[in-house]
Amino acid sequence: MFVDSHCHLSFPELRGDIDGVLARMRERQVVAALNVCVTLEEFPVVLALAEAHREIFASVGVHPDYQDGREPTEQDLVDLARHPKVVAIGETGLDYYRLKEPLDWQRERFRVHIRAARRSGKPLIIHTRAAAGDTLGIMREEGAGDAGGVMHCFTETRSVAAAALDLGFYISFSGIVTFKSATELQEVARFVPLDRLLIETDAPYLAPVPYRGKTNEPSYVPHVAEKIAALRGISAVDVASASTTNFFFLFGQLGKQVKVAG
Ligand code: NI
Repeated sequence: MFVDSHCHLSFPELRGDIDGVLARMRERQVVAALNVCVTLEEFPVVLALAEAHREIFASVGVHPDYQDGREPTEQDLVDLARHPKVVAIGETGLDYYRLKEPLDWQRERFRVHIRAARRSGKPLIIHTRAAAGDTLGIMREEGAGDAGGVMHCFTETRSVAAAALDLGFYISFSGIVTFKSATELQEVARFVPLDRLLIETDAPYLAPVPYRGKTNEPSYVPHVAEKIAALRGISAVDVASASTTNFFFLFGQLGKQVKVAG
């Protein structure tokens, strides 16, 4: 059993073939997919897919690369996150690669998402690119550890992973870990504890080997598990079961209950 912890099923590459995507997920034992929201304008479609299909979950948030849509307030996010199939806030974070300073609006938006996650009790999906120091700094300042969450499509160093783990975050690996050139990232995939590791496709982008360059989809996520298993010298079943358990622990809010009880 596998779960795709991060994909974009409402993007045009996949949206027209949801029944096919779901059928191929079933064939490959991918039992759930978290369909991640990137703009408020897109959110109704993201939610509709989650409402229509048992195995699809939704998030609410505005991605740091989207500048032209409606800016979410903390209250917007809290209100939209009340729906039971909305299991996370994001994707949010910082991206200094695609866009250039001044990016005060991006940092402020990230803070708004963290505050909304803390208030709603739902975990964060964090994107960080060429901005690891500021991302971790804002996470600490805003108490992101209280909400918890995942560093998605992780491509940073081992020390950034360690800092995120210290804040209680999970680390999610995408198809990038299967790329031949990704030797540093493969080291990180060996290092992250199995009980804090998630797998994802980030579909429709970043298809894993042997589909590199093609349109990605959730049914390809077993290839990410197989690569991580090979790197760690364990079976793909072990990576599959750990990452699936972790997914439902984090996004099913079980972690929160345990934390409160403890
Ligand atoms: Ni994404």
